[in-house]
Amino acid sequence: MRDASAACAHRSPRTCYDYRMATLFDPFTLRGVTFRNRIALSPMCQYASEDGFANDWHLAHLGARAAGGCGLILTEATGVEARGRITPNCLGIWKDEHIEGLRRVTEFVKARGAKIGMQLAHAGVKASRHRPWDPVKGRHPTSNGYVPPDDGGWMPVGPSAIRFGQDGPVPEELSVAAVRAMPQVFAAAATRCVAAGFDLVELHFAHGYLGHSFLSPLMNKRTDAYGGPFDHRVSFLLETVKAVREAIPESMPLFVRMSCSDWVDDGWTIDDSVEAAKLVKRLGVDLIDCSSGGASRTAKIATGPGYQVPFAARIRKDADIATGAVGAISEPAQANGYIADGSCDLVFLGREMLRNPHWAYRAWSELKSDTKSPIATEYGWAV
Ligand SMILES: Cc1cc2nc3c(=O)[nH]c(=O)nc-3n(C[C@H](O)[C@H](O)[C@H](O)COP(=O)(O)O)c2cc1C
Repeated sequence: MRDASAACAHRSPRTCYDYRMATLFDPFTLRGVTFRNRIALSPMCQYASEDGFANDWHLAHLGARAAGGCGLILTEATGVEARGRITPNCLGIWKDEHIEGLRRVTEFVKARGAKIGMQLAHAGVKASRHRPWDPVKGRHPTSNGYVPPDDGGWMPVGPSAIRFGQDGPVPEELSVAAVRAMPQVFAAAATRCVAAGFDLVELHFAHGYLGHSFLSPLMNKRTDAYGGPFDHRVSFLLETVKAVREAIPESMPLFVRMSCSDWVDDGWTIDDSVEAAKLVKRLGVDLIDCSSGGASRTAKIATGPGYQVPFAARIRKDADIATGAVGAISEPAQANGYIADGSCDLVFLGREMLRNPHWAYRAWSELKSDTKSPIATEYGWAV
């Protein structure tokens, strides 16, 4: 354990809660939202939607993790426009008709004591893919086969006309006018998030999807104001942040999920991420959700328990902004350690939450030798 004052020495008074160690079960406040603990459900595609609508599956999936004790629930990558979905079965928020079904989910989640955020996304060149279990391809949709327009798919778009992977068409390069217009598409979706009762919004700028593909020199080969040097490649991010920040209330936190490294020489780096984090912080972003990869199929990713946590720690320290850590975090003591040693402010769990929606209660009983259970599941957690 580090000395408590040392853990906060690099933090400004605004972002340093106090000079004691935070733990996984301490509340955490950003703007007008207080999370009951530091445990977040990481965004995970469910491929369960028709025409972008939320349904009983989303209520059950997100609701179960809220009832299981998470402090924060994040939706899957949700398309800000129909062609921004990864698969034809991904969730969407591109029209007002989507709001009602989403409100049902937010009301249930909030009644269980959790906060809920929507991950706003555009899949860019990785759009229009099959679901993982469709008979035509591999395990993950971004490596899956392309769904052509005559089978319910569409033409993907991106910063450059560079195909990702072996199959599918060469994507359409967005015109400068189309790029300039896209932040307002995100802003309109964010306005619908407010109407649907979400507590916060996360912008998906990771994993090789549209936002990240503008940041990464591997995917962005433009020669105009949106490509080339770092300052140009971050323009789309900054314009999107500005537009969304203006569309949501002052009291509503705004997160950005970033791929903090492309894990490839000449790709986007952790140093770039620190600089980008400083810029978006000035524009009103409250937390960087630190993921990585997705821009290249040849990336050599050094996976292992907590392998992306050093990104969260570095950005938290050098950009002086709250961070979320994600990736191969599954043990309560491990998660608690990352909060206690100042690596991050929230811990995001993905696959472990698929295995056990009540992970937060498991963590409570392991770390506290106590039980703190939601109403109807109490007997499962009695010690
Ligand atoms: C089934 C599945 C779907 C995912 N969908 C998304 C997504 O919609 N948005 C996103 O940012 N990350 C997505 N991810 C990545 C997770 O949010 C998480 O970052 C990753 O799984 C690493 O965390 P873990 O080791 O706890 O699973 C997905 C992961 C899985 C397993």
